Amino acid sequence: MTVLIIGSGGREHALAESFARCGAISKVIVAPGNAGIALQYPCVPLNSLPEIREYCLEKDIGMVFIGSEQPIADGLSDYLREAGLNVIAPSRHAAQLESSKIFAKELMHKWNIPTAKYRVLTHEDQSEQYLSEFNFPVVVKADGLAAGKGVYICKSRKEAEEAIRSLFSSFTNKPNDLQRTDRGVVLEEFLSGWEVSLFAISDGLNFASTVFAQDHKQAFDNDLGPNTGGMGAYAPVPEAEVYRKQIEEEIITPTLAAMRDIGYPYEGILYCGLMITTEGPKVIEFNCRFGDPEAEVLLPLLDNDLLDICQAILNRKVYKLNLKFKQATALGVVLASIGYPGDFEKGITISQPMPIPSRTYFSGVAEGSSGLVTSGGRVMCVVGVGDDLAAARKQAYRRIDDINYETKYCRSDIGLRKNCL
Ligand code: AMP
Ligand code: GLY
Repeated sequence: MTVLIIGSGGREHALAESFARCGAISKVIVAPGNAGIALQYPCVPLNSLPEIREYCLEKDIGMVFIGSEQPIADGLSDYLREAGLNVIAPSRHAAQLESSKIFAKELMHKWNIPTAKYRVLTHEDQSEQYLSEFNFPVVVKADGLAAGKGVYICKSRKEAEEAIRSLFSSFTNKPNDLQRTDRGVVLEEFLSGWEVSLFAISDGLNFASTVFAQDHKQAFDNDLGPNTGGMGAYAPVPEAEVYRKQIEEEIITPTLAAMRDIGYPYEGILYCGLMITTEGPKVIEFNCRFGDPEAEVLLPLLDNDLLDICQAILNRKVYKLNLKFKQATALGVVLASIGYPGDFEKGITISQPMPIPSRTYFSGVAEGSSGLVTSGGRVMCVVGVGDDLAAARKQAYRRIDDINYETKYCRSDIGLRKNCL
């Protein structure tokens, strides 16, 4: 069978590596992929929904795995399913759990799923009234997809007012931009605690959960600086295990039940971004896919055949799935471009070991005149695997020393957080 993976980052590279290990898969193709992934797997520049559908039908693609959120929010999975294709990703309606923070908050509120208290602002002039209901810091979020960059933690009323103003003006400045379909701004109580992610593999009715993973979203060491798409991750997170049952019973089960109830059964990977607080685990966000860089550390630990997992979703047999993970730790460090998530230089030549060792997952790279050059804020994710966190960390950071480019930047403290209240 040929599998087509949709996306262009490290997560899709890790998915390709996992699918390539499946006995029943003869070919792995990535669309659009990137110049780094293309060193190992064929990448095809398919950019629109019709282009993807035509390609799948023409090339007899057995299964499509959509890695990234935007095509899911755009309705790619529905569009391909209508043509009779097998697709791993939720429908556009179900993906509102990620594509609209307002949708997710309203669903959680209605179903009593633990999350931060919130208010929805549909007009900027509601700021004064609603801000008076919150303590500081307060969290201000855009409704729609923002690649991890639509969240402001505001220490004062003035900061919050500025964040709200800048979000509303970003909506009104782009009336014709289809990416910005926000219905408003969410104001949220700031949750204290420590963060962890759990992934549920769901066929709409039943689910199986993975090991826990922990991302590091802030740009700089000690969790300082602006939020990014993710600067590094590791899995498993043993301190989270005591909360697993509670998360499954109070968060995942009712969320999937709610989605069935409203007529949008959730089929695919549900990413639960959680804050462990003194009152127990609470949802910070849902995403409708694997995380990036979380996928890069989860997939190397997976002991099941990834195709079997996908088939369990497609055949509604997740109740039979026995997920198995290696007794090891994986830790990934994202190599970024200095300046990310703000402005950064592109086109910088990358020198690195050749052939590309496994567990090197490319994202912001392009083909230069003599090898790969940087083309994005997050350039690649390098993963170490070891018996414990210290061993995985050591391997990942040692491997990074062999990779060089002028604008190379990474956090030096991935995996060093104290996960306690
Ligand atoms: P999100 O895109 O909603 O995951 O938010 C990005 C990051 O902002 C999260 O990973 C948290 O670190 C932080 N964050 C978001 N919402 C809250 C909240 N209510 N309380 C504390 N931190 C938050
Ligand atoms: N690592 C965060 C995300 O994938 O949204």
